[in-house]
Amino acid sequence: MQTILSRPEYERQVAATRDARMEWWRDARFGMFIHFGAHTLIGRNEWAMALENWDIKDYEDVARKFRPEPGCTREWARLAAEAGMKYMVLTTRHHEGYSLWDSKANPYNAVAFSGGFDIVKEFVESCHEFGLKVGFYFSLMDWHHPDSWRCAFDPEARGRFQDFLKGMLTELLGGDYGKIDILWYDVSRPMESHEGWGSLQMNQMVRELQPDIIINNRSKLDEDFSTPEERITAMEGKDWEACMTFNHISWGYLDNTQAAPYSYNAHGILRMLHTVCASGGNLLLNIGPRPDGSVPAEAIEPLQTVGRWLEAYGDAAVYGSLTPCKVRSASGVGRFTQRGKTLYFWQWIRSEQLIFGGFETKLKSIRLLPSGTPVAFSQTDRRIIVEPPAAELSDPIVNITVFEMEFEAPPVHNRCSAYPQLHTGEVFLK
Ligand code: GLC
Repeated sequence: MQTILSRPEYERQVAATRDARMEWWRDARFGMFIHFGAHTLIGRNEWAMALENWDIKDYEDVARKFRPEPGCTREWARLAAEAGMKYMVLTTRHHEGYSLWDSKANPYNAVAFSGGFDIVKEFVESCHEFGLKVGFYFSLMDWHHPDSWRCAFDPEARGRFQDFLKGMLTELLGGDYGKIDILWYDVSRPMESHEGWGSLQMNQMVRELQPDIIINNRSKLDEDFSTPEERITAMEGKDWEACMTFNHISWGYLDNTQAAPYSYNAHGILRMLHTVCASGGNLLLNIGPRPDGSVPAEAIEPLQTVGRWLEAYGDAAVYGSLTPCKVRSASGVGRFTQRGKTLYFWQWIRSEQLIFGGFETKLKSIRLLPSGTPVAFSQTDRRIIVEPPAAELSDPIVNITVFEMEFEAPPVHNRCSAYPQLHTGEVFLK
């Protein structure tokens, strides 16, 4: 019999091991989210079953035809590694209630029901092959299981459904798939509390099976990290990961030609990545593979380009222990990330003059990355005037040039002397 710790005691124990468990994740910064399932065949958003009010039997007829090509997960993992991502999270089951692995607990799955292959198993192998950490997304909400909606008012249904969830989690985390790095819960409806879901018990079981695992905050307990969705919002004093669709519309596959115009380019992805790096978070960027499992065309080139950029600048300006950067408004043509005394200026608009206002700390050097070529500058009262390097020295990959600026001490950036109200928020007229 499992002894269940009280919530305070459980949270104390989880917090005590957090720094050690989260170290790799905090350094990683960038991961790939994959939304894949029977909804992929419909191609009109992963919520299609509910939004379009599908009858369960008709939807099962769709799921029966779900037969992605073996090997597709390697394509995802190869692209993630090429993009400079360090981990992947796959929807092992989405709200439609269909499992992507050979589950005994849930016969409605890719193998037993659709006669396909164990996608989760191949996914784990592919992550290992490309040196990526492994994350499992796991929906609590379920539109297929007869007990799931009854849970809200029927204690017996709730008990059965909790056992069903624990049975699936035991399969995923308790053996065959080896070490799993992240458990990414989603949508805890219809119950509104962790008591309703038995999350304390469920997550203690998870941690017994996988002592090093990192759990997100969507089972009604805070656990290890928060998950702002479709927005990049810094969360002070907490670990957080912004999850973003590739096209502002859908996590699941959408017909390519429709989704493409809404998709990010490499510049847009790097802007998002910059925001998370400057404010202490991670970016989990989604793709929804096609029904055969191949990567949507519009995601390939942008991600490969991002990867080439990260290859050149990532070790300096992106990965590892960055300092949350307080310097927000010293230039209109780019932004900074920070590591102790050093700032990395990501210049995304080229300009004839480059001037930074408001620094009080003495600047020792500016070097152009990745070559390390010194850049001339002068520093007067709260103004750093940079000699912009020759155009041919600017970044050839996506035209985001990075300057490494080493200060004498962690830079103090205050008000510009001529415009003190800028930084203090003082207003003179209301
Ligand atoms: C939402 C949606 C879901 C998606 C998820 C990703 O909660 O219900 O479709 O999987 O967000 O964060």
